[in-house]
Amino acid sequence: MKLFLIGYMGCGKSSLGRRLARRLAVDFVDMDKAIEAEAEMTIPQIFATEGEEAFRQRERDMITKLGSMEGDRIIATGGGAPCREGNLELLNSFGSTIYLKLPPEILVTRLCRHKEKRPLIAGKTDEEVAEFVSRSLAERETYYQRASIVIDCAGRSDDYIVEHLYNFMRYNK
Ligand code: S3P
Repeated sequence: MKLFLIGYMGCGKSSLGRRLARRLAVDFVDMDKAIEAEAEMTIPQIFATEGEEAFRQRERDMITKLGSMEGDRIIATGGGAPCREGNLELLNSFGSTIYLKLPPEILVTRLCRHKEKRPLIAGKTDEEVAEFVSRSLAERETYYQRASIVIDCAGRSDDYIVEHLYNFMRYNK
């Protein structure tokens, strides 16, 4: 079974995904890292040289590539990956999608610590990041809400979330 972790930048897709994969003894894939390896460029370099639309196409291709692979896998997607028309349905056709939901205030606090590796917020002031996050999260929420399951992560420990997902995976194999 494939489990795709989706949600806004900074919601914990990669760190929770890595922990869950270890707990289940299955492979973990970070989609952004897979795109970087294939492109031989970092995400900021792809945005700078090819533009955002080319990056979105790379994401779409990577969903198909990872989704078509054999075997159980936990896959952390990029925050915008499910938000292109048809991508969420494509993800759901390959496995289950889990939306790791957090409110904008928590996301902003986390994101303001590491802006530079994320081209959508690089160079913005903290106030601009807050404005950007609340606007784009509101737009993206309609896509994220179409996930197979939604986990409200606010106030929940990483241990709790990993355990919850572990049980979901065990009983939905
Ligand atoms: C993006 C999220 C990033 C990365 C790119 C664009 C987005 O991934 O794919 O910078 O559009 O939300 P993370 O969610 O892992 O930060």
